[in-house]
Amino acid sequence: MELDVLSVDAWAERVAGDLVARLVSEPALRLCLPTGDTPAPVYAALATRLEAGEASLQRATVVLLDEWVGLDPDDPARCDGRLRRELLDRVRPRPAAFYTVRVDELPPGEAAARHDEVAAGGLSLTLLGLGANGHVGFNEPGSTADSPTRVVALEMGSREAAVERYGAGRIPEAGITLGIDRLLASDEIWLLVTGARKAEVLERALRGPMGPDVPASFLRSHPRLRVIADTAAAALVTRTP
Ligand code: GLP
Repeated sequence: MELDVLSVDAWAERVAGDLVARLVSEPALRLCLPTGDTPAPVYAALATRLEAGEASLQRATVVLLDEWVGLDPDDPARCDGRLRRELLDRVRPRPAAFYTVRVDELPPGEAAARHDEVAAGGLSLTLLGLGANGHVGFNEPGSTADSPTRVVALEMGSREAAVERYGAGRIPEAGITLGIDRLLASDEIWLLVTGARKAEVLERALRGPMGPDVPASFLRSHPRLRVIADTAAAALVTRTP
């Protein structure tokens, strides 16, 4: 595992810059992208750089990490809508493909199965955020290293976050997420973590026992895990004992 700790001010620009460098060296990247407050400033910085011609998504494939079940297609909290607004609609040319979770056309179980097939085609780089309860994607506590892509009964805190933090019009019923098995099968993982409210859970994910209480801890078993944190989030993992 590689741990990069960056200043709060430099964090988003650095992650965006590293993504640009990856796209330049590997234009046909198959990227798995999360939504949420953590990656939003990265996407803003990345969109600016792509618009400036530093790199292009033209040959890249984008696979959405997770999605709510039970929100309208135009709900502001929808993950597909957020990724379009924050990144994909802001850049030209568009990616070669953008795979959303097909919750509007298919029953949830089938939408999860179709999304799993997309991920089974391979992911070169997976970006992840870290939930306050240690989840990655919607792999809630109780998930294991071999948890598959599936419909997840979310913890109440995760469901309420859709309304309280992301402005959803109603509390979603469930989530669909790429499974930890698929995340671990990605060639490379970047775990993005910012803010003091994530300091304790990041410490548990990186220094605590590897297990289902903190699903993000399973990422440590990946040979190419890079944790990119700001100083506030990394406060408890960088202190000297
Ligand atoms: C959400 C999403 C995750 C996200 C995480 C952290 O519920 N399902 O994919 O990474 O929680 O969100 P945030 O970055 O807003 O703190």
